Amino acid sequence: MSHNTFGHLLRLTTWGESHGPAIGAVLDGCPPGIPIEAQELQQHLDRRRPGQSRHTTQRREPDEVRILSGVFENDTGQQITTGTSIALHIDNVDHRSKDYGDIKDKFRPGHADYTYWQKYGVRDYRGGGRSSARETAMRVAAGGIARKILDGVTIRAALIQVGPNTINRDNWDWSEVDNNPFFCPDPEAATAWEGYLDGVRKSGSSAGAIVEVVAENVPVGLGAPVYGKLDQDLASAMMSINAVKGVEVGDGFAAAALAGENNADEIRMGNDGQPRFLSNHAGGVLGGISTGQDVVVRFAVKPTSSILTTRQTIDRHGNETEIFTKGRHDPCVGIRAVPVGEAMMALVLADHLLRHRAQTGTKTGATG
Ligand SMILES: Cc1cc2nc3c(=O)[nH]c(=O)nc-3n(C[C@H](O)[C@H](O)[C@H](O)COP(=O)(O)O)c2cc1C
Repeated sequence: MSHNTFGHLLRLTTWGESHGPAIGAVLDGCPPGIPIEAQELQQHLDRRRPGQSRHTTQRREPDEVRILSGVFENDTGQQITTGTSIALHIDNVDHRSKDYGDIKDKFRPGHADYTYWQKYGVRDYRGGGRSSARETAMRVAAGGIARKILDGVTIRAALIQVGPNTINRDNWDWSEVDNNPFFCPDPEAATAWEGYLDGVRKSGSSAGAIVEVVAENVPVGLGAPVYGKLDQDLASAMMSINAVKGVEVGDGFAAAALAGENNADEIRMGNDGQPRFLSNHAGGVLGGISTGQDVVVRFAVKPTSSILTTRQTIDRHGNETEIFTKGRHDPCVGIRAVPVGEAMMALVLADHLLRHRAQTGTKTGATG
């Protein structure tokens, strides 16, 4: 069994390894007639690109995406999707495989080295091969197309915690997210994180983080009972991102501490004649189906495993040894996970939009 594909009507298959010649993806099921240019996808990729600040890996990958198929000019010369499979391609240009020669037989703690070896008996040790987060570049590129399917839906993400340091939610300002190297919506927290992460990096250590992803203007009705729940698919998609160890929807784990009267979102009729929820503890999903409120998902990212500190491990022959990972690594991988979280939200919502249309057509309930 191989699992390089996800989605139902909108299906993404990715391929490639960290230190191979290229990475790529095929996105199948995209409706025809959607205008799309490589530059639009590039904007999203540029936010995930390594080497943009001292707080991310210094690997220099331009991550230039090419669209190889599935698009053609319409009558006015605009490039649009044709409804056929869309192939995306990015060259790997800055891999330094020699960084990994010394450790090819050793299992790096916190990485997939041990499990890949035990499962397959062969592995591309250079930069983690297929387990490398290089693969997430393709998710971001494909997510750019998914966003276009979700016309009118706004998907944004922010870093809300680095190590033990959280933002002050009263300071939340979306316009700040692209003003600092952390995608942080709280400018005061971003300033504090600079010093904190400098210290972490200089001590040869790393830090974890929490990312919050918010989708606004999501239509009511996306998701399905019983095994096609929207929150279930979102949790699976976020958990599939490298280094993610926890996912929550809405109030998530904090809901366990709430009383029922504080958690269940009350409903009134708004002045516009439409139902209006008085709160959003549910994170925009009830019974696995979107309510029309913001869909809110958070995920926790573990601290980078490859650190400039010698660690104990074993090699593939069972010898106890020590390991020191050279390579170039993100001191806090949660930073570059922010655009990846947005992409996964877009891919899941777009898949569910197409599934919703396929099953219900225009037939939906109405209140008011
Ligand atoms: C955007 C991104 C960049 C990453 N970069 C690194 C890195 O430079 N060094 C590292 O040790 N882990 C990095 N990771 C995490 C590893 O890929 C991941 O921990 C490893 O493959 C093991 O998988 P798991 O943590 O999901 O179990 C990164 C993750 C993401 C999302």
